[in-house]
Amino acid sequence: TMSTTTIIAIDGPAAAGKGTLAKRLAAELGFDYLDTGLIYRAVGMKVLDAGFDPADPARAGEAARDLEPADLQGPDLRTDEAAQAASKVASIPAVRDALLDFQRRFAATPPGGKGAVLDGRDIGTVVCPDAPIKLYVTASAETRAERRLKELQAKGIATTFDLVLAEMKERDERDSSRAVAPLKPADDAHLLDSSALDADQAFDVAIAFVRAKL
Ligand code: DC
Repeated sequence: TMSTTTIIAIDGPAAAGKGTLAKRLAAELGFDYLDTGLIYRAVGMKVLDAGFDPADPARAGEAARDLEPADLQGPDLRTDEAAQAASKVASIPAVRDALLDFQRRFAATPPGGKGAVLDGRDIGTVVCPDAPIKLYVTASAETRAERRLKELQAKGIATTFDLVLAEMKERDERDSSRAVAPLKPADDAHLLDSSALDADQAFDVAIAFVRAKL
């Protein structure tokens, strides 16, 4: 018998709420979820931990090819240091190439066999351009920085709104301007601006869109 699984691609800038949304959609539909940003974070931290510059193409490419599942369990992958390192390794073509197969295999044959939700920057444009369901989740930079600040403060991390906003803008600029697989909405992506929505409202909009497509 032929088996078909559904792929949902979710892209957007940093701290737009993609992860929260993707996880909830996956849970609601019984699909598997892949946080592709975590893979880039793991590569970035691997290079940093080895004492090298994440912007070094040879070192970063090697780290991406050698990546192991255990690397995705690192305790420091959610830090801003990891985010910046991720954004740097992510602009290196050899890194993106090395990570492509893994992401596509997960999308085509998710562990649970029903479907996959992937979130990142280039899922709808490069990793899974044929995904039948694509969402581009965004929000104003100020809204995203405010949300991120609250998350960091909840974790007891001392920072300021201005620092968080500056870090985020720097990362979005690098992610959007790189030559390979830059952050941008796929032509057929449904835009979801979450600036005026809380997490529940964003989920309601997204699940209605997904169900209409299924
Ligand atoms: O989603 P995130 O903040 O965890 O992603 C960290 C960085 O990884 C992001 O700044 C750019 C990069 N990334 C990417 O280039 N492509 C993806 N599909 C996911 C993340």
